Amino acid sequence: MQIVRGKKLEKAPEGEFQQLVEESSRVVVDVGTGDARASYRIAKENPSWLVVGVDPAWQRMTQTSIRSRRKPAKGGVPNLLLVNASIENAPPELLGAADELLVLMPWGKLLHGLVRGDEDIWRGLRSVAKPNAPLTATVGTSIWREPVPRDIQGLPELTHPYVDEELAGKALACGWEVTGFQLTKAEEAAAVSSSWARRLDSASTEVIATLTAVAAGPGEEAGAAEQEQ
Ligand SMILES: C[S@@+](CC[C@H](N)C(=O)[O-])C[C@H]1O[C@@H](n2cnc3c(N)ncnc32)[C@H](O)[C@@H]1O
Repeated sequence: MQIVRGKKLEKAPEGEFQQLVEESSRVVVDVGTGDARASYRIAKENPSWLVVGVDPAWQRMTQTSIRSRRKPAKGGVPNLLLVNASIENAPPELLGAADELLVLMPWGKLLHGLVRGDEDIWRGLRSVAKPNAPLTATVGTSIWREPVPRDIQGLPELTHPYVDEELAGKALACGWEVTGFQLTKAEEAAAVSSSWARRLDSASTEVIATLTAVAAGPGEEAGAAEQEQ
């Protein structure tokens, strides 16, 4: 798989990811990590975890990569890995690797697929999850307030009825059991500590939608093994 090393994109050396996994107590995959600052913070606060930031816009991760490669005393975080990939085409190394998934303040295909229940995005998320892995996804609901950005027009709003009646069924068909949905004022949303959420004004009236789910059924690898038998 392609990983961000400083300002460069490199092919991960054979076996490196597996070794990092074996040395860690938990693997957290932050999908659509953007500038990867949230991943960096989680990795720094939890040195025994391996935090994997995944994003196809790899140039945005370079500053955090440079910082994470310093000596630990100078802010280095050896347990952070930044991967150039979109979740619907996750690299083989990541399949079935995640103990936990995060999707914080997504945009573009990730946002649309998450909200509409698109199979490629939800199956992509499932492909990297271990069975029973929890998923937390956050979306700022101001995108549905006037003036609605052009690329959001027509995108269903995340509301309780929409999640219960439309999205939960689509997620389940892709191997995710929706376990909760909350609308919370930004400053109260504990799960939201991403760069985008922190850019919100402290007096912001932004309401954050937080969706939680758990990976149901066998993972991608188990499914493939069953088919071979
Ligand atoms: C608004 S940024 C949020 C970044 C970060 N999670 C945060 O909260 O600061 C959304 C990110 O989602 C990424 N993204 C869009 N589609 C994606 C996909 N299919 N797979 C993975 N990441 C995707 C974009 O490249 C972008 O960097």
